[in-house]
Amino acid sequence: MSRKITIIGAGSVGATIAYTLSMDSLASEIVLIDINKQKVAGEVLDIAQGTCFRDPISIVAGEYEDAKDSDIVVITSGIARKPGQTRIELTQTNVNIMKGIAPEIVKVAPKALYVIVSNPVDIMTYVFTKISGIPENQVIGSGTLLDTARLRTGLSQHYEVAQKNIHAYVFGEHGDTSFIPWSCADIGGAHFDDYTKIMKAYGKKAEPVDQEGMLEYVQKSGGKIIANKGATFYAIAVSVVKLCAMLLSSSDSIATVSTMMNGEYGVEDVCLSMLTLVGPNGVQGKVPVELSDEEMEKMHASANALKEVISGIEI
Ligand code: 2OP
Repeated sequence: MSRKITIIGAGSVGATIAYTLSMDSLASEIVLIDINKQKVAGEVLDIAQGTCFRDPISIVAGEYEDAKDSDIVVITSGIARKPGQTRIELTQTNVNIMKGIAPEIVKVAPKALYVIVSNPVDIMTYVFTKISGIPENQVIGSGTLLDTARLRTGLSQHYEVAQKNIHAYVFGEHGDTSFIPWSCADIGGAHFDDYTKIMKAYGKKAEPVDQEGMLEYVQKSGGKIIANKGATFYAIAVSVVKLCAMLLSSSDSIATVSTMMNGEYGVEDVCLSMLTLVGPNGVQGKVPVELSDEEMEKMHASANALKEVISGIEI
């Protein structure tokens, strides 16, 4: 079965997503689109020349019309953060770029599932939904998928246990107002406090995790990586490819992705991340796990911060 994935934006994130997909068996056809024709031609040639070591795959540098009938369209276009910049500072510039892309791509791929990655991703997911006319269930922002991955990395190192056994999530904005609902987090089914006692019983050094410190580790990782190497692209690319796999799977998956809120937790008309059912029809539903009063306050604070940004942009 042909599975066509188009990526708009051949910068470090888009190109790494294309490369990661080319090493996977998920897509049979990859189209990479960028306004910089020389760059996209170079990226495609470089990626294509490594595909002889795997099953045949088509990867081309294309125009919008080449995205026709894509199963998934990933949008990464926009300027990236510089060291010390916040994602929100990119807003109007990247909204203006999105306003140029959306009408062109939906003309040729109205039935595709759209994965928005451009930052600030919650705002860009909202703007794309509003200006594209694409049904809400077909629009998913990468949201805090990457933050949740960072959280699991940090907790795995702290508790010395495999990341797959850690069920902890990041909700809200992919940014400074994100939060960790510890009340619905566990390790192998055991709550963190219980798990610390279990580890002590095995003589392992286990101190309760510093929850504020762990949130700061998650929130500051992007900026730290950018300060050290100029950009982030590996973990976000792997997160996006994992999301594409969920969208092309025959069964639903649950992930913290950014989607339009329609009253969940009393939040509406804004895109942010909570536990969401995703699958072949895109957003299949939400999983509104119970939050503590404090966590609900954080959810509303995140929603209000994003709404404040939305109120100040020209869509
Ligand atoms: C990050 O946090 C790209 O915003 C993304 O690395």
